[in-house]
Amino acid sequence: MLNDLPEWRALAAHKKIIEPLHMRDMFAQDPQRFDKFNITCGDMLCDYSKHRITPETIALLTALARARNVEEQRDRMMAGDKINQTENRAVLHTALRAPRDATILADGHNIVPMIHQTLEKMADFAQAIHDGNHKGYSGKPIRHIVNIGIGGSDLGPRMVYKALKPFHKKDVSVRFVSNVDAADINAALQDFPADQTLFLVASKTFTTQETMTNAHTARQWLIGELGNEQAVGAHFAALSTNAQAVKEFGIAPDMMFGFDDWVGGRYSLWSAIGLSIALGCGFDVFRALLDGAHAMDRHFRTAPLEKNMPVMAGLLGVWYRNFWDAESYAILPYAQDLALLPLWLQQLDMESNGKSVTRGGAAVSHATGSVVFGQPGTNGQHAFYQLIHQGTSLIPCDFIGVRDSAWNHDEHHRILNAHMIAQSQALMEGNLSTQTDNNPHRAFAGNKPSTTIIIPRLDAYHLGMILALYEHKIFVQGAIWDINSFDQWGVELGKTLAAQILSGKDTARDSSTAALIRVLLG
Ligand code: F6P
Repeated sequence: MLNDLPEWRALAAHKKIIEPLHMRDMFAQDPQRFDKFNITCGDMLCDYSKHRITPETIALLTALARARNVEEQRDRMMAGDKINQTENRAVLHTALRAPRDATILADGHNIVPMIHQTLEKMADFAQAIHDGNHKGYSGKPIRHIVNIGIGGSDLGPRMVYKALKPFHKKDVSVRFVSNVDAADINAALQDFPADQTLFLVASKTFTTQETMTNAHTARQWLIGELGNEQAVGAHFAALSTNAQAVKEFGIAPDMMFGFDDWVGGRYSLWSAIGLSIALGCGFDVFRALLDGAHAMDRHFRTAPLEKNMPVMAGLLGVWYRNFWDAESYAILPYAQDLALLPLWLQQLDMESNGKSVTRGGAAVSHATGSVVFGQPGTNGQHAFYQLIHQGTSLIPCDFIGVRDSAWNHDEHHRILNAHMIAQSQALMEGNLSTQTDNNPHRAFAGNKPSTTIIIPRLDAYHLGMILALYEHKIFVQGAIWDINSFDQWGVELGKTLAAQILSGKDTARDSSTAALIRVLLG
């Protein structure tokens, strides 16, 4: 068991030594602390000096990583081993951003040429939309895109599209529909002219009920507006692995953009699922996103553990989750355009590491995934930061800062960044009782950990780096915990029960469920 390992026990003992230390004193005693605890990857900086750690903590954490063969597990993932053993699948989202001349095998075949074929098809299609050469049924160019998907087929592209607002194509607007609540699709269709609208049905399986319901509603709407079923051909594209279901829906093969089952849903924005990004921002922007992620993949694959950003982020995640009982962490981008990053990360982390059995199927003996939440600064400061500063739970924070703003008004950006720096300082330092006239209500204990990640600009390349950093952080934690980070069986039962309830069969086994069915569904 993990907690019987000597490396684990050493960390548990070490935590008792660290616990009484205050980071304020650690900084005062060591003017080089920042130099010791920061990592760069290209021009991205990760400052992890405001953590409850010493050099010994890092030595013990990296010893744990070695004892759990994290590097070997990483190499197996990137080499296409079927590490998602409950679904008998490889996990190869890193291949999606590999350069054309790479060789990556899945089931003995080099998949890189096929990946680049799809990328070329996406690039050509994006060009045809932008040039106005892909015409709608009535001969008008497509100017509006509606991506219909949910979970990984929505959150990733939606978040990236919003994050890259300064790069949006002027003539094309993109909306995203995910919820089966008709309010969502109604809002998306409200003022889009059908003859200039293209629907992207984004679904790995092409069976997800919410997505297929929305897709059929969109289909009916389009046919109603344009008066002919033939219109579907020019106004629908599918992003999926399920060619048969796509065909049955009425989408021709040339309008299908495929990928493979070795791309997990929540890791799929790099695949054809990212088409809305290419259409909304241009294919070169999508390519830059892939390149940034690839740069982080290279760093993850080659940097020594001590200087490896995702490894260190994952190890700190384990440090707080398992040795300090931190049940959650906050992701705090100081960029309004990254407003959806916490939602994307929520699925990525909680669906990946919300597991309670090991890969072998035994109950875990240690805590696993965390609750992830967050909001862009400074809004979060006026909402939930109070609890982080003065509440009773330890909540490690990740600040994400951008050096140069894409927006005018430099003074806004200076204020924004000053607030981010101030928050990490306040969390770490707290204040002294003399500063608050011994008023306990105004006292900040401080000693609250945070990482600060800084990118020079919020562009596609650096966004790709950030997203890949979190993917690999989550991988590192799963590798140490010996859980399968790539399946999601926990979402199945609800789907099955919903289908039973909708079928009208009397399935309620308890009076509460029976009453709710009666009240809501008649
Ligand atoms: O929530 C479960 C899930 O399977 C996610 O993992 C996935 O991202 C989402 O549903 C959507 O699945 P699909 O792309 O197959 O419609």
